[in-house]
Amino acid sequence: MCNFCCKFAAKFIVCIKMASIKERISALQAQVEGMKANNSKELEELRLKLLSKKGEVGALMDEFKSLQKEEKAQWGAIVNQVRQSIETRFNELKEQINAQADTAAEHLDLTRTPDSIELGTRHPLSLVREEIIDIFSRIGFTVADGPEVEDDRHVFGMLNFAPEHPARDMQDTFFIEKQEGIQSPDDILLRTHTSSVQTRVMTSQQPPIRVLCPGRVYRNEAVSARAHCFFHQVEGLYIDKNVSFADLREVLLYFAKEMFGGDTQIRLRPSYFPFTEPSAEMDISCNICGGKGCAFCKNTGWVEILGCGMVDPNVLESCGIDSKVYTGYAFGMGVERIANLKYRVKDLRLFSENDVRFLRQFESC
Ligand code: DAH
Repeated sequence: MCNFCCKFAAKFIVCIKMASIKERISALQAQVEGMKANNSKELEELRLKLLSKKGEVGALMDEFKSLQKEEKAQWGAIVNQVRQSIETRFNELKEQINAQADTAAEHLDLTRTPDSIELGTRHPLSLVREEIIDIFSRIGFTVADGPEVEDDRHVFGMLNFAPEHPARDMQDTFFIEKQEGIQSPDDILLRTHTSSVQTRVMTSQQPPIRVLCPGRVYRNEAVSARAHCFFHQVEGLYIDKNVSFADLREVLLYFAKEMFGGDTQIRLRPSYFPFTEPSAEMDISCNICGGKGCAFCKNTGWVEILGCGMVDPNVLESCGIDSKVYTGYAFGMGVERIANLKYRVKDLRLFSENDVRFLRQFESC
């Protein structure tokens, strides 16, 4: 290319560059007014689009740098002005958004107590069970556990129920059907009382034994306000040398007073259970009428709360405890019965229906 051509070409390129700078400048000038951002995210998008190194202002500056000296002098002020007006507008927007964030932060009261999390309440039967355990644990009883699915031996046999003993009919039992192809004993059932845990404890440890056995029991009964096919019991067992019926009476009196109040009285009526001899049922003075007589106690002034007695020597022997050396007492009570008396719940079914309006009422009683 000749000298002339070179100069011409250079001028031509400069002209093109100038045209594109002009375009860029007017495009940017047009944008300034329309620059908008509603939040910091949009503001950042704007910054990236216009002010970052690879943004539109950056591109303008790159182009500006490649101009000849004279053009630079000619356009420098305008390019700067455009850049500044974009930066000023950007800063204005930034301030606005920060101010909005400040007022939002002013409304944020960090000292405010947080909204409370709605907690569940403990089931009334759990509360009563825990209270029973607490009362007896203060005089040395510990908790023992046993299976709900039991065999005949632990529920009846070892507790002195003879094979044809009519006492077995006292409890309508759910038997577990044998499954074809699975080898299992014939006599598996759902325990009908927590006295079965006595036999488990006595066969696994030697006296002194002082345990409480809380748990769920099952009986084949039609569900009504007064009966249910499952309910809860707490069994107590104390075996040592020289344990007497007087000890049993004292412990039960202590329990009744702790559970129902210091004025509560007890009375023991002779009864029959295959696993205790002698056996008794215990009433407490009606805690609703104070013993004067009301509908709840059927005007007798007394309500029955548990069965008890001295552990039958046959039971001790069947569990491997020497009945000539040791004696003991046992008692068993229904948790629902105690809860009925304590909370005056008339319908047993309420305890297993899981209606939170009912369940919520007890925690602070
Ligand atoms: N197991 C008896 C029942 O379910 C309650 C009972 C009575 C337990 C007398 C005892 C007892 O330990 O001595 O009705």
